[in-house]
Amino acid sequence: MLPTIPIYDQKSRIKLLIVAVALLIGAATVIYTNILVGQLSDRERQQIDLYAKTQRYIINTEEESNLSFLYDEIIEANKTIPVIITDGDDNIIDARNVNVPKGVAEAASIKFLRGEIAQMKAQHPPIVIEIGAGLRNYLYYKESALLTQLRYYPLVQLAIIGCLGVIAYFAFSYSRRAEQNRVWVGLAKETAHQLGTPLSSLVGWQEYLRESERFRGEPIVEELGKDIRRLEIITERFSNIGSVPVLKDENILRVTENAISYLQSRVSKKVSFEVKTDLPTDTPAQVNIPLFDWVIENICKNAVDAMDGRGSIVLHLRRPVRGSKSQIVLDITDTGKGISKSKMQRVFLPGYTTKKRGWGLGLALAKRIIENYHKGRLFVKWSEPGRGTTFRVILNG
Ligand SMILES: Nc1ncnc2c1ncn2[C@@H]1O[C@H](COP(=O)(O)OP(=O)(O)O)[C@@H](O)[C@H]1O
Ligand SMILES: [Mg+2]
Repeated sequence: MLPTIPIYDQKSRIKLLIVAVALLIGAATVIYTNILVGQLSDRERQQIDLYAKTQRYIINTEEESNLSFLYDEIIEANKTIPVIITDGDDNIIDARNVNVPKGVAEAASIKFLRGEIAQMKAQHPPIVIEIGAGLRNYLYYKESALLTQLRYYPLVQLAIIGCLGVIAYFAFSYSRRAEQNRVWVGLAKETAHQLGTPLSSLVGWQEYLRESERFRGEPIVEELGKDIRRLEIITERFSNIGSVPVLKDENILRVTENAISYLQSRVSKKVSFEVKTDLPTDTPAQVNIPLFDWVIENICKNAVDAMDGRGSIVLHLRRPVRGSKSQIVLDITDTGKGISKSKMQRVFLPGYTTKKRGWGLGLALAKRIIENYHKGRLFVKWSEPGRGTTFRVILNG
């Protein structure tokens, strides 16, 4: 297979693995906490049963002197489980570990306790305490705050881990993008800088030849001039991508036609180029010409490669059907081999290529130029394997 694709496959496998491990940890925490919650809940129920029995015993026993230890050890020892006892007529006779709001009127605190009783009822049926002579008290209770916290603990933990994951992801991708930016910009500046010196001396040499007796009027001097001009354009592109490029209102039809004229003269005659427009011929768009030319060149060169040197390339300028009316759409359609749906996003990744002599940088660069430098958009609008492809460039007018 191709050398670059496995990197992306591997990356998505690592992502899957991380997600799987996170889910596993999450599930294990939930299960383990549930076991703890179950055990603690059982303990609390036993404690309350004993509590109710003690209550009954204390009430039904005459010899009060022997009971104080029971009272201390069991009734007073319950510092965590909220308990309310009512008599047979529903009067509240005792409440423990219930946080009645302080400093409120009696009626308000009774109302609060009734609310608590309703909550307790929803959790467990009350325990009946027989107090003799057919009379009964009712003991209501609910789980301790500790148990409630423990029940929600895994959710809180998962939420925190989730938040951290999201933050880490964004921080990571931000710093990776910043690093990529530095590489693009640095390399471009360095290239422009290195080309500068020999280029200015070439300009000098051409001038010298043009003036010299021997070469004056020779076509070779003009050809040399064309190559120098081409080198100047390349240097300008690199220097523009290495700095904040200036965008100007340019006649987009003329710019597009000029951009393809260079290509047209260099590819097989069996490839036809056509520029169509639905716009007034003087419609302006915000572009940086050296960079925009580079985009058109990259997209059209790919189109030529995809058609094996035979077919047609149509560049169509128009307004977007939806979206802002100030925007300009340029659709570049070829009759090449097409791109499968699953690859439509991937073609823009740096290093993605299906060619023996490809670097996979053309579309990554084009996307960068359009989206970062022109604040526009570049994407695959349509493609069908075997029929062709449309790349869409959206510019601001
Ligand atoms: N018009 C197109 N038709 C079909 N495939 C395309 C087209 N344009 C780009 N591609 C695919 O996208 C890949 C990446 O393109 P690019 O970034 O320019 O790198 P390179 O041209 O060096 O391969 C190409 O190798 C090709 O597989
Ligand atoms: Mg290319």
